[in-house]
Amino acid sequence: MCSIIGYLGLNQAAPIIVKGLKRMEYRGYDSVGVATFSNNHILVRKGVGKVIEVNKAVRLDELSGTVGIGHTRWATHGMVTDTNAHPHPSSTGEIAIVHNGIIENHEELKRELEQKGYAFKSQTDSEVIANLLQYHHDETGDIKQSMTHTVSDLKGSYAFVAVFEDGTLAAARFHEPLIIGIGKEGYFISSDVLGFVEHTDEVIYLDNREFVIINTTGIQIFDFNINPVRHQITKVSKEFADVYKGEYAHFTLKEISEQPTTILNAGNNTKLELDLATDLIRHAKTLYITGSGTSYNAALVAKFLFSKYAKIKIEPIISSEVHFSHDVFEQQSILIALSQSGESADVLEAVNIAKKTGTKIISIVNIMTSSLVHLSSISIGLGCGPEIGVAATKSFTAQLAILYKIADKICNGSTGIDFAKASEAIKKILSDDSKIKEIAKKIRDVSDIYILGRGIHYPIASEASLKLKELTYIHAEGLPGGELKHGPLALMDSNTYVIMINPSDPTYSDTLTSAREIKARGAKVIGVSDKPSDVYDYWIEIPQIDESMYPLVEIIPIQLLAYYAAVEKDTDPDYPRNLAKSVTVK
Ligand code: G6P
Repeated sequence: MCSIIGYLGLNQAAPIIVKGLKRMEYRGYDSVGVATFSNNHILVRKGVGKVIEVNKAVRLDELSGTVGIGHTRWATHGMVTDTNAHPHPSSTGEIAIVHNGIIENHEELKRELEQKGYAFKSQTDSEVIANLLQYHHDETGDIKQSMTHTVSDLKGSYAFVAVFEDGTLAAARFHEPLIIGIGKEGYFISSDVLGFVEHTDEVIYLDNREFVIINTTGIQIFDFNINPVRHQITKVSKEFADVYKGEYAHFTLKEISEQPTTILNAGNNTKLELDLATDLIRHAKTLYITGSGTSYNAALVAKFLFSKYAKIKIEPIISSEVHFSHDVFEQQSILIALSQSGESADVLEAVNIAKKTGTKIISIVNIMTSSLVHLSSISIGLGCGPEIGVAATKSFTAQLAILYKIADKICNGSTGIDFAKASEAIKKILSDDSKIKEIAKKIRDVSDIYILGRGIHYPIASEASLKLKELTYIHAEGLPGGELKHGPLALMDSNTYVIMINPSDPTYSDTLTSAREIKARGAKVIGVSDKPSDVYDYWIEIPQIDESMYPLVEIIPIQLLAYYAAVEKDTDPDYPRNLAKSVTVK
């Protein structure tokens, strides 16, 4: 959720940290702060807003010192205020920390520390780490000891980085990601390689229950029982470096525009895994699929795809609901876990519950170094490169592409899917988006949009509504077309816009009938279809292709519509309010 970064090296730390934080803002962006070690003191600057805004206001990047830590926040405990922003200094100011995760026992620890005379300023759970480290450091006078005592006191999930008043950095990992970067001119420690990839591609992935101490003499890694640990240095893939917007106004538009290529590449780096996974799925006794948000919508598409083409039953379960769905998994079940980040806490929890029953996990994931990959028997990579825009776009179609590939293998190529043709169809939609821009102007001020689709187009309607909500803040609802008359028709009037996902396939005439029922109530109808109709007030044309490919293609104009409506409304499409890309808390 939050992003954390630390740097110790030959250069000024603050500018490096601020740049890294900008890259990781997708993890949370309601406030930001930096602390550096300079002239034997710890200096802290922080504030509410995005990195660029806070930096302009308080010049985070002008803090002096060659050692420092930084943070972007996605609030969980305590309002979005300057005081609650990280870094949090200990009450003596000799230690400052940045934290990602949740400290479950923070109230009881805070009470104990207050009794010992340590003062608290913020409403966060994180501040307790600073004072706990300070307490143990006061007791032992030793950084290693204070780290191990602190981690044994903490309950919850965390990754934190601390800077001490002798210029040492120390960081610990427990169920939240933390990666060390080894550069020629310094060390980095961060939630994501994006935080430092422009400086080095040599990294060490810390394991759970490990901590690291970094000072000018080098780095030392220990497990929580203070046993020294050695790790291989690995090189991260060059694709991580592709984090620039280039000619595009926003990452979201860049990522939407990459889809003609990303659907072709999906799974190509993990072909063997794709074959192995297909084999497991083909022979599974019971098959489940899970995900959150967009990834869950992809899971819903899988249900239709697998039953129609592969003749296999698969049950989608929303990841955050698995905990409350009693005893679904059996010994020989297979669970497919879909996740762009591989770090969504809800997905990881679902996977852990399934694993307890002996269920095998197949993950379809973009970040191949993520926690989800570690928990899976087989992982298939989306291979779509970094997705920075908080609202998922290219990762959704890459997930679909892989699910299509699996279904197609199981039915020996009879789905009719032709990725080259689907890619051409997406290119055509992207090449002329002038009509979509016009419609974006019309919908910018409406308060409700409904998106209707039948059969396999219903999950696409659901994903379309999620894009509209995330990017435009307009209330949007995806519905199966037939459900209209069972309630939602009561909401239709001349202020309502309804998007009909209506390609020429067996759902066409029924969806057209629903469109007429809506039109008769005065609502405006937008048709997303390869065929025009007098019922549409606005027609968004999609190319005529084999019916199997429509789901992969018809989401593109709606992603564009949501993007352009956000631009019309002057909201930030890359960083929608209140959201974060990687939700690592429950
Ligand atoms: C967050 C994001 C969504 C995303 C969901 C699942 O809620 O804002 O855009 O779909 O997480 O993320 P995952 O990385 O597990 O696919």
